[in-house]
Amino acid sequence: MSTSNLAPYIHREVPLEFGGRRLTFATSLDLFSSHQVDVGTRLLLRTLEPLLTDGSPRGEREGARILDLGCGYGALGVALATLPGVAAARLVDRDALALEFARANAARNGVEGRVTVTASLGLDDVPAERGYDVVACNVPGKAGEAVIAAMLVGALGVLRPGGPISGGLVAIVVIEPIREFVAATLARAGLRERIEVTLRRDTADYSVFHYRPAPGVAFPAPTDGFAAGVYDRDTLSFEDARGEPVSLPTVHGLPGYDRPGPLEIAVTRRLPEVKAEARVLVTNVGQGYLSVYLWRAQPAARFLLVDRDLLALRTARRALLSLRCAEDRIETRHVGTWGASGADRAADARGDLADLIVGVGVLHEAEYAGLVGALAPGGRAVLAGSSTAVTRLLARPLPAGMTATRTRHRGISILEVATPRM
Ligand SMILES: C[S@@+](CC[C@H](N)C(=O)[O-])C[C@H]1O[C@@H](n2cnc3c(N)ncnc32)[C@H](O)[C@@H]1O
Repeated sequence: MSTSNLAPYIHREVPLEFGGRRLTFATSLDLFSSHQVDVGTRLLLRTLEPLLTDGSPRGEREGARILDLGCGYGALGVALATLPGVAAARLVDRDALALEFARANAARNGVEGRVTVTASLGLDDVPAERGYDVVACNVPGKAGEAVIAAMLVGALGVLRPGGPISGGLVAIVVIEPIREFVAATLARAGLRERIEVTLRRDTADYSVFHYRPAPGVAFPAPTDGFAAGVYDRDTLSFEDARGEPVSLPTVHGLPGYDRPGPLEIAVTRRLPEVKAEARVLVTNVGQGYLSVYLWRAQPAARFLLVDRDLLALRTARRALLSLRCAEDRIETRHVGTWGASGADRAADARGDLADLIVGVGVLHEAEYAGLVGALAPGGRAVLAGSSTAVTRLLARPLPAGMTATRTRHRGISILEVATPRM
């Protein structure tokens, strides 16, 4: 993805003095800590710098390999990759927009050759080898306790015991509201005997912990957290278009875990009839409510689920599968940016454009342009958002022949776009 695709998403450039260098990061209002590099991130970096700067020039001792778990725009992993004691860093996040910023920020700071950026839900998509000397994580405080615990313990299972950081190290920073939970997790029976906490530093708002396997202890590779149910939360029950009851398993970390949101309900009121074999693109899929609603209406359609968030994609896909939607009817696409004009998305999807596009919370003009560009001739998009957001989108010129109409309902607007038949 070219940097120009990021342009409409960039909020500002933030500086970071680290390791004797002045680094800069492009940030987005849609990502964590867009005004400055987070105070917790900086605290964690300060505790790691002495361990990864041994004074020897690059090449004299084996460089450390870093995993930045939940990298955001890359502040931790990119900064660590600039240190002379670091050979390579893998940065992972569930958010595709974060991944695109992290990639751009690695290049901006001249370390793209040492940095690999890939999507992962927790540790689920991190290659299973014990490959890392340091797992660094600014823990997502709202991810849910089971998810956080799985990250804290799972990280021990990807450490490389024989590397330059003896035994490997997990280094995390947490915000005050979860510090006691994290301390209790590390001290719980069965774990405390098998790890050593080598550093704890508390400020009013944050705590940093460093811990590693106790001598002679090897932790198993982490299991697939999503499949094991660490994200599981509740059940969302609703009636489909025929009034029949449907239930979906839902997860922590996404809205609408026990009922559909008002925007989603508003969309269902405006859905056209869906033909068999129609290609239906659902964006911002959330817990999977709209995908399932549409599938119940037309089980012979083909579904393309598009989202920034890997957790949403996996949850919506699982919801469809749980109701016996055939696997080959579902495609998923983890998309961070849509390109300035949408033309690239349209080209990407050419030959397989969508007959129906459905989405909620489409706020970004670039996303709107991309969606409209992916509509097949005779196709229709039904998008719901706040009335303010929709007013902004309506001001955008549409390609020739397309029409956009709005219906309002209590601060919510439904925006419908129709393309002419060929
Ligand atoms: C507190 S932010 C830290 C971002 C960055 N490391 C920094 O220090 O600025 C946490 C990040 O974790 C990501 N995240 C949350 N839950 C995750 C999960 N289950 N798997 C992967 N990433 C996750 C979020 O998208 C977010 O970018």
